[in-house]
Order: sequence, then structure tokens, then C-alpha cells
Amino acid sequence: MTESIDQKNERPGSAHGFSAGWSFCALFMAALLFIPFIAMAEELAPLPPLPVFPENPQTPEKVELGRKLFFDRRLSGDGTMACATCHNPETGYTDGLAISLSYPTTRNWRNASAIVNLAYNDAFFWDGRASSMEEQALFPVMSAFEMNQNLDFLEEELKEVPEYIEAFQKVFGGEITRERVGMALAAFQRTIISKDSPLDRYLAGQKEVLTPVQVEGYEIFTGKGNCTACHNGPNLTNNKFYNLGVPENPDVEADQRVAATRRFTAKVSGYSAYRTLTEDPGRYLVTKDRKDWKAFKTPSLREIARTGPYMHNGMFNSLEDVIEFFNRGGGDDPNKTPLLKPLGLSDDEKLALEVFLKEALAGDLVIATMPEVP
Ligand code: HEC
Ligand code: HEC
Repeated sequence: MTESIDQKNERPGSAHGFSAGWSFCALFMAALLFIPFIAMAEELAPLPPLPVFPENPQTPEKVELGRKLFFDRRLSGDGTMACATCHNPETGYTDGLAISLSYPTTRNWRNASAIVNLAYNDAFFWDGRASSMEEQALFPVMSAFEMNQNLDFLEEELKEVPEYIEAFQKVFGGEITRERVGMALAAFQRTIISKDSPLDRYLAGQKEVLTPVQVEGYEIFTGKGNCTACHNGPNLTNNKFYNLGVPENPDVEADQRVAATRRFTAKVSGYSAYRTLTEDPGRYLVTKDRKDWKAFKTPSLREIARTGPYMHNGMFNSLEDVIEFFNRGGGDDPNKTPLLKPLGLSDDEKLALEVFLKEALAGDLVIATMPEVP
């Protein structure tokens, strides 16, 4: 996004090589007038209508089937967990834990993502290793440290349930397959939307919906705080990856099960030094590019008040802690992004920013209820 702003800024001078001083000057003035508009248009935006998914169109029957699967414990190997166990609608589609639980006797190694407004995103997981929701949905089912289910076995289990046979036939015109399980789960998850937040209404022109302190927070978010360098667009994410220098969570090393999960993930991602790994390499495990070491996806901030603890490893319990962290200019890491600098926010400014995050980004969130699972 910043690239395109730069291009627009350069065009008047460089592309045409004006020699007459006055015309260059006029153009420069015009560019100056336009820059703020361009920048604003590239920054925050109200939530647009749901995109269309031609490969997997939304239908009410498919969404309903996906909802059943989302709450069905058959998706886990030992029948103890459903997707909703870790993405609980009552707690903003997270589990409220720093590091997520997992299949009994094992532990996850990361914080459960809030699966809110994912229909607008195009990279999934903290490291972006899945590029579609259809693809993503089968990962936790198979994962040894999530649901630990065998997909051939799952297909046979579901084929024993007449309601599922009938529903798959109706929705897909065919039998139960793992791909269709993924498609139904994706369709359901795309209905988990938070919209009409005070920020959406403010951006749509209803200036009176934000209180003065929320407006102050908004101005810090888009100005002095530089938050919109990364948290921009309708979902407050640019879908890019950054190393902020978030400290390692000491509980990871302390818990042998979490450490085992980390080493296992690094091993199966082809990282040869996995045995001595003491950090979460983040995006590096996907790209193997050194510049992505410990880089994580910019998360959406919608419904942020509900989804703590925060960061990929749940290192911060409160938004106050997160704001302190950004105010310090992030953590210390040799690979930290140059976009973070100490902000010098006063206590009042920090508070206004917190109020903005908590109140202006809380919208009308769809809370899915538990269906009757066949
Ligand atoms: C044991 C807890 C657990 C279970 C069960 C679980 N998840 Fe997750 N989920 C997580 C964690 C932890 C992450 C973040 C993992 C990462 O990024 O490496 C995550 C990430 C996701 C994401 C990515 C969100 C984003 O913003 O990129 C989606 C989508 C998702 N899960 C959907 C599902 C679905 C669908 C199921 C059921 C098939 C499921 N999850 C089951 C813990 C769980
Ligand atoms: C350089 C890009 C960048 C900037 C600038 C930035 N963020 Fe973030 N933000 C991220 C990334 C990346 C993460 C996840 C980091 C991780 O888990 O290691 C994140 C995480 C967060 C989280 C936790 C979200 C969650 O679900 O756990 C909050 C809250 C947040 N940022 C708020 C802010 C605020 C407020 C500002 C401005 C003061 C800001 N961010 C500036 C990239 C950025």
C-alpha cells in the first residue's frame, strides 16, 4: 500500500520531466493537496459487503452444515475437542488462554487466533502458512497438537451419520469428502463477522458516534502512534508480516509439551537445527528467508477487547501492556522492523488509545450458537 502512495507521489515530477518552473510548482502544489486524500483512502475504511467466493459460493445450507461441523467433536481423534473448544464464540472466538490447549497430553505453542472477519483476509495463521480458508480448515483437524484426527478415518466416521450423508448430498450433490468438510467449515467461518462498529460509522461520516476521548484515540492510532502503518484497511490489517521483537513467552520453555510442539513444527517445516531451537521462528518456517525470522502476521484488531491475551504467544494480558510495548518502540530483536520507534505517548494519550481500541472496534459480532450436532 505504501508502495502505491510513493508511486503516486513520484509521478508528477519524474515521469514527464517538466522544465518550466511554474508548471512544476503548480503540479507540486496539486500533489500536496492530493497526498492527504490518497493517504486517507489507503488507511482505514468501513467494512465493505462480503466478497463473493466463486470456488465455494455461500449458501445457507452450506453455512449450516459448516456450523454443525465446527461444533462437532468427531473432528478430533479422541472426540474431546471441536473447533469451538478453542474458538469459543462466547470469548470472541478464542479460548482466553495465552497458549492454546490441545489434544490431551500435548500442548499447542501459539495463541488461538480470533476467527473474526476472516472472509476479508488472504493469509491465515500467525505465519500465513495457509492461503485459503478451505485449505486452512483441515490443518487443525490433522495436527498432532490440535485435534489429531486422521482424515480417512474422519470421512468414514461422518459417513456413518445419516444426517451428514443427506446434508452433504444436498449441499454438494455428492458424498462426504475431506475437501467438502473444509469448504463447509470455510463457508460457516465467513459468516463470523463483526460490523457496524463505532469506527465503521465514524468513517462513513457519522462523526458524532465517537466520544471526544475515542476521537483522540483514533487520532493517535492514525497519527502519532503510527498504528495504521500496519493496521489499516477495512479489517485493520495489511496482511503483512513483521518482527516486533515480542519477547519469548517463558512458559514455552518451561512446559516440555509446548517445547516439543515447537521443535516438532520446526522439524516438519524442514528446519534442520530444530533440536536446539529456543524461539518461535514465525514466518521464516514458511519462506526460509532470513528476513522473516520471527515475523508474524499483522492481526485484525476488530473485537480486540474480547480476544486477549495478545500476540502470537499470548505474552501480553491486557491492551494496556500492548500499548506500553508499542510506546517503548517494541522489543529488542536484531531483526526488528524499522517501522517501530519509541512513541513518547503521555499517560492520557495511552489511555485514549486504549479506549479507542476497546470501544470503537467493538461492533455487531455474530455469536454462533451451538447447533444440534447429529
Ligand atoms: C486446540 C485448540 C484449537 C482447535 C481445536 C482449533 N484451533 Fe484454530 N487455531 C488455534 C491456534 C493456536 C491458532 C493459531 C495457530 C498458528 O497461527 O500457528 C489457530 C488458528 C486458526 C485460524 C487462523 C485464523 C487467522 O487469523 O489466521 C483459523 C481459520 C482456525 N484456527 C480455524 C479452526 C477450525 C475450522 C478448527 C476446527 C476444524 C480449529 N481452528 C480448531 C487453536 C485451535
Ligand atoms: C510494523 C507493523 C505494526 C505497527 C506499526 C503496529 N502493529 Fe500492532 N501488531 C503487528 C503485528 C505483526 C502484531 C503481531 C505480533 C506478534 O504476535 O508477534 C501486532 C499485534 C497487535 C496487537 C495484538 C493483537 C492480537 O490479536 O493479539 C494489538 C492490540 C496491536 N498490535 C495494536 C497496535 C497499536 C495500538 C499500534 C500503534 C501504537 C500498533 N499495533 C502498531 C504489527 C504492527
